[in-house]
Amino acid sequence: MNVKIDGRRKINSNVAVPSDKSISHRSIMIGSLAKGVTEIENFLFSDDCLATINCFKNLGTDIEIRNDKIIVKGNDFNLFAPKQILDCQNSGTTTRLLLGILSTQEFESILTGDSSLKKRPMKRVTLPLSQMGAEFEFLEKEDFLPIKVKGSKKLKPIEYTLPIPSAQVKSALIFASLRAEGKSVIKESPKSRDHTELMLKHAGANIKSWEEDGVYTVEILPSQVSSIKIKIPSDISSAAFFIVLALICEGSSVVIENCILNPTRTGIIDVLKQMGADIRIEDVENRNGELVGKIIARSSNLKGIKVDKNDIPRIIDEIPILAVAAAFAEGKTTIDNASELRVKESDRIKTTVQMLKSFGADCYELEDGLEIIGSREKLKSAVVNSYKDHRIAMAASIMACAVEGESTILDAECASISFPNFYDILFSSTKKI
Ligand code: S3P
Repeated sequence: MNVKIDGRRKINSNVAVPSDKSISHRSIMIGSLAKGVTEIENFLFSDDCLATINCFKNLGTDIEIRNDKIIVKGNDFNLFAPKQILDCQNSGTTTRLLLGILSTQEFESILTGDSSLKKRPMKRVTLPLSQMGAEFEFLEKEDFLPIKVKGSKKLKPIEYTLPIPSAQVKSALIFASLRAEGKSVIKESPKSRDHTELMLKHAGANIKSWEEDGVYTVEILPSQVSSIKIKIPSDISSAAFFIVLALICEGSSVVIENCILNPTRTGIIDVLKQMGADIRIEDVENRNGELVGKIIARSSNLKGIKVDKNDIPRIIDEIPILAVAAAFAEGKTTIDNASELRVKESDRIKTTVQMLKSFGADCYELEDGLEIIGSREKLKSAVVNSYKDHRIAMAASIMACAVEGESTILDAECASISFPNFYDILFSSTKKI
């Protein structure tokens, strides 16, 4: 599906941003491993999260959608050998976290995914999980899906420092550690998103975590997981598209309520504020360890900055839309120390630069990032490739709203990976200036 966007639009409304993707995945996984019945409100029914539901149904978990809630009947870590290959589709989070969970199960299973997922490295999880005693076989190509996994009920605990901060790798190791025979210690620097730790603590698992001198440590003791009730807040990674829309379009403002404000996720707000953005946060509350609140953003004159390398894990998914904001800023924005972008749903250094260039922006690739020279006056409408990457499609759509003329976003349907009704919301919440 291609989407045409008539540019020079503005926004002046509240936007109901969909629920958080990371938390939605984890709610199904932790619900499935728990003892008892977990109730999930505001689950994100996006393609990625549906892939997680399907995998867990194939592993024998009873998952039912009842009056807008999801009811998960936990198996207390006793999953069933799947009758078919587990298809993680486009979802790295499903794959990597599942590899950790399946390491605790004695049966054999096979995981696969779509052509993009099959290009994403998996040794970063299989290597430490093998040290714990799980067995993996790459069925086509070393490091990539499809992978056969055979777990064990006698996993060894692990002491492991992540070479690159990653919530997916950390979470996989935490899940496996819950069933290891002793205390595991996992370290990373700087800290990546900690939803797994927070949700497991809420579910009664024996987990401690702290930060000292820039190093984040998680200590896990073998634990049982209790069922929980969870109401999932809106996803700041999805909200980011509408925040930037309001910042770069004249006479605009947007309000996003009920949004996740976990400090490991709010890097985009901090970085945009450093660029001069008018963003306010209000009504913050703590919901079982997770901060949630209201975000208000207004049109702003942005200026280019050098992004601090310690902020990279906190903005890793928002870099395509941050780059759009930078194209409208005055001066140069540098984002480096971000080679992880090369192994996301697409090579996001390449695809972000290509997308910006289609609109006439002045930008180039660095080995580990990108540089954007603000050039508001040069930007024009374009026919843009999304490279079937949801965040590139949505970032391009926001850019298309701000420039003069009609743009076309190719293969725009991939937005549903994380934001199922993105185009309905975009067209109903904006109008031509
Ligand atoms: C995610 C972690 C991040 C992020 C991804 C979601 C998660 O990946 O890019 O979209 O839910 O754990 P890494 O942890 O591999 O950086």
